[in-house]
Amino acid sequence: MNPIRHTTAAAPKAALALLAAAAALVAAPLTATAQQGPIKIGFMLPYTGTYASLGDNIEKGFRLLVQEQGGKLAGREIQYFKVDDESEPSKATDNVAKLIKRDQVDVLVGTVHSGVALAMARAARESNTLLIIPNAGAGDITGPLCSPGIVRSSFSNWQPAYAMGVVAGSKGVKRAMTITWNYAAGTESVKGFAEGLEKSGGKVIKELNLPFPGVEFQALLTEIAAQKPDAVYSFFAGGAAVKFVKDYDAAGLRRTIPLYGPGFLTDGTLEAQGAAAQGMLTTLHYADNLDTPRNNAFRKSYALTYKANADVYSVQGYDAAQILAAGLAAVKGDMKQRDAMNAAMRKVTVDSPRGKFTISPAGNPVQDIYLREVKGNYNEFRSIAVKSLADPARGCKL
Ligand code: PHB
Repeated sequence: MNPIRHTTAAAPKAALALLAAAAALVAAPLTATAQQGPIKIGFMLPYTGTYASLGDNIEKGFRLLVQEQGGKLAGREIQYFKVDDESEPSKATDNVAKLIKRDQVDVLVGTVHSGVALAMARAARESNTLLIIPNAGAGDITGPLCSPGIVRSSFSNWQPAYAMGVVAGSKGVKRAMTITWNYAAGTESVKGFAEGLEKSGGKVIKELNLPFPGVEFQALLTEIAAQKPDAVYSFFAGGAAVKFVKDYDAAGLRRTIPLYGPGFLTDGTLEAQGAAAQGMLTTLHYADNLDTPRNNAFRKSYALTYKANADVYSVQGYDAAQILAAGLAAVKGDMKQRDAMNAAMRKVTVDSPRGKFTISPAGNPVQDIYLREVKGNYNEFRSIAVKSLADPARGCKL
């Protein structure tokens, strides 16, 4: 029945009831109405420099999940803000303030570089802004700096590195050399590798370093040739990984000294690395050809949307959005219920293209680490290197 067609004596009563209802709405706490607007997501990612493609793919993955959900999470519109962090730790505090103070975002999503992410974690803790980290593996973030409002959809630097150490050990490597950038991701990666290798009696005999994002590898490659280790372990990613793998090959080392690394060395880089990367073994929490309905559907959807192949960074962005979606669903989109939301984001089992994973109390994925081999333009699954690997979360007190 159409209420405006009331003509009986009940009409004044109905009008009064309507007025009362309207008054109640006006009197409702502002917080309830504020929750009706969009959820503001602040992407702080590298859109320039050696990690630019990583940042881009993380954003694409995140947006894909939201798009698949009809552009809303828990019934709320999503609004995006963006800052290019340039993988520059010295600008990180100012950059994150743009999102927290100027744009007043509800959720920070970032970043790739561990040094920048450490500054983000401090700012997120101080302002109690929810932070979802879709890549940077800095151990401290899920160690001494751990917080209920910080969760990672990716890995800790220790995880794939430790697994590669175990694999190298099982292949009989006794004397290894390492080469990386001297910032948190590189140094933690090398440490994790050494820990895994030492389990079978192997050792890192020499660590080579250069400043981020340098790519002057020649003198260091000459030193590797002189030392003749059983294997080399290397952490580089993005544009620099392309150059390193090609330089290693061009120096004639690939035929004599196997080059190992966490999968970042060959993820999102294979078209550019070409023949130089073929046959390389790496460890990571993702492999391109995981033949599961979840991974196949994800890769198809990603390829259709972006006319490009998904990589591990796309997966981590997608899963960052899945974790946020789970948190929002638990509080029906009401971000004022932050404690309940934080707790829900720790409890979720994420149905990821990488396979299902859980989140540790410290906020880091507990996940299988795969051994992969480069074949053409793909990192193909070979075996599970370490099952359900949890970061040790040293120093996290929650
Ligand atoms: C990091 O800085 O933590 C980092 C950067 C790029 C990667 C992986 C880790 O591919």
